[in-house]
Amino acid sequence: MKKAIVYFSYTGQTEMVAKTLYEQMIQKEAVVLIKLEALNPKDNPTLLHAPDIKAYDEIILGTPVRGFQLPPIMVEFIKTIDNSDIPLSLFVTHHFKPDFLGGNQTINQFKKLAKTHQIKETEIISWRAKNKDARIASLLSKFN
Ligand SMILES: Cc1cc2nc3c(=O)[nH]c(=O)nc-3n(C[C@H](O)[C@H](O)[C@H](O)COP(=O)(O)O)c2cc1C
Repeated sequence: MKKAIVYFSYTGQTEMVAKTLYEQMIQKEAVVLIKLEALNPKDNPTLLHAPDIKAYDEIILGTPVRGFQLPPIMVEFIKTIDNSDIPLSLFVTHHFKPDFLGGNQTINQFKKLAKTHQIKETEIISWRAKNKDARIASLLSKFN
């Protein structure tokens, strides 16, 4: 089984989590780390090119929350895999402490968007929450 971690990150928070997850997973299974390259990454990130995911059996997505929702680049990427039934997991990183200030809405949007896929795991990581480290630890054990 080959897995891919596909993520978008502008300021590096999501990238840090994606890389930490990758470093753990690669110890025991086949996994690749793929960064989505964006046009206009700061204000309105859109997909520069869609990576080919045919070689993978499962995808873990990582994305920041933008305006209580998925950034356009992640919506575009998920739409490119509409015609596959590859299982997906998603983690989001966001700024505000409570999950209801962006995290929950983004996970719900993802579940609607990816309704043809099996959704395996989701996690929300807020940079300001006291439980940030516990959430990252939970993500590492659930997604790994
Ligand atoms: C345009 C924009 C909109 C954002 N909207 C939200 C939001 O709705 N809720 C939230 O908690 N954080 C929000 N953030 C903060 C980011 O989600 C947070 O800093 C994230 O971890 C950044 O990830 P990155 O470093 O991987 O780019 C926003 C940031 C930007 C730039």
